[in-house]
Amino acid sequence: MISRIARTSARQASRSSSAVQQARKSTQVAVEHDVPYPELESYWMPFTDNRDFKTNPRLVDSAVGNTMTMTDGREIQDGISGLWTTNAGHCQPKIIEAIQKQCSKLDFASSFNMGHELPFKFADRVLDLIPNRGFGKVFFTMCGSSAVDSALKMSLAYHRARGDGQRTRFIGRQRGYHGVGIGGISVGCITPNRKAFSGMTMPNTSHITHTLDINRNAYSKGQPEYGAEFADDLEVQIAMYGADTIAAVIIEPIAGSTGVLPPPKGYLEKIRAITAKHGILLIFDEVITGFGRLGSPFATTYFDVTPDMITCAKGLTNGAVPAGALICQEFLHDTIVDHADRDPGSTVEFFHGYTYSGHPLAMAAGIATLDVYEEQGLFQRAAELMPYFEESMHSLKGLPNMVDIRNCGLMGALDFQIDPTTPFKRTTDIFERCFADGVLIRHSGSAIAVAPSLITTETEIDRIMEVLSKNVKASAEAF
Ligand SMILES: Cc1ncc(COP(=O)(O)O)c(C=O)c1O
Repeated sequence: MISRIARTSARQASRSSSAVQQARKSTQVAVEHDVPYPELESYWMPFTDNRDFKTNPRLVDSAVGNTMTMTDGREIQDGISGLWTTNAGHCQPKIIEAIQKQCSKLDFASSFNMGHELPFKFADRVLDLIPNRGFGKVFFTMCGSSAVDSALKMSLAYHRARGDGQRTRFIGRQRGYHGVGIGGISVGCITPNRKAFSGMTMPNTSHITHTLDINRNAYSKGQPEYGAEFADDLEVQIAMYGADTIAAVIIEPIAGSTGVLPPPKGYLEKIRAITAKHGILLIFDEVITGFGRLGSPFATTYFDVTPDMITCAKGLTNGAVPAGALICQEFLHDTIVDHADRDPGSTVEFFHGYTYSGHPLAMAAGIATLDVYEEQGLFQRAAELMPYFEESMHSLKGLPNMVDIRNCGLMGALDFQIDPTTPFKRTTDIFERCFADGVLIRHSGSAIAVAPSLITTETEIDRIMEVLSKNVKASAEAF
């Protein structure tokens, strides 16, 4: 076993000048501890307690369907679809084959001033999922965060094209997660995600109140009864800042990352009506809710409320190749292009894009993913499974320390009373116990989230619930 310091110092000796090395050494003393797995030291893992992971690693070797096999041979049932990604299950053969074929045909082609066929085809297929709602264009990105940043920039470009360039304010919602770009963390509102970076979040962003109201809505099945009036907070913000300064409102139709918060009945309709009344764009961040999670192509179709833009990722390619997309109303595109038409010096209409926008592997994966969803009727399958999932989740009512169970579609959460001085302790403990028992769920603050794939069986749902039940009790006994 070598120490973390000894290892970093050895690496630095070959890289750093001795003065820099000396300065670093003096700050390193405080972090010296043993490194049981030196081979894990170089990779700085995202959104992870690296110190904990690197003393107790969980390494996946392979995965198929709803089962992951760890490097130590253990099998783990995936109760969170990877990370809300693998809606059609892991290593879906048709998707994998499409990627393999594409890889040997065209590995990369720029989408700047040239292109290849696949993004055009894929954009058509994505729009086919959501007809008759005015959506006319798809802008491909690399992930959910870049889809969100693209949506914010498109909002600004649209208002500017209309001569409304003073509309620069964005309104998000408390407990919202919109990825990790500076734009995304500014409109998002999860405390730890913002705190370290608060010195440089975007100006002109504010947040309406979240919709979680456990006092009135605890143990609601699906959309809670009370809380449509939370949308009125938007009118308060509009009165405070002036509608003519606000570019867009961005919300997740169901907040996922902070523990599955389905919108109260009537809430989304109200948000839509208020934004439309004031000429403010509405962005639905559907990175989690898109592609069948609610038994419907999007939350937009499930709740029958149409925003001006939809951001999506994850289930877009079944998680097999990183990709995101911004689906926008035709009028946004037309306004920006008309504006460019009127400018004699204009070339590019929207100065935005990524080297990997429309990447051939992502597009091939995406087209195959939509084929699989369609051929296997997976959205319908999810819709049929949803009542069973709902009953199963709510069968856990009464477990120790529990304060709420929430669900909508194939996503649900258990919420617990927590000690505010150690907010992650209880749910981290439950997560670790479930993992040791062979089931992967997700922990986030006071909540445990479950989101099985669209190919999950009732038996697999039963197992998730059994393991959860056992380990919530065991955890409560332990502390
Ligand atoms: C609603 C929402 N928006 C954006 C993102 C960011 O997506 P990515 O991690 O692909 O950048 C996520 C990720 O979980 C998300 O849930």
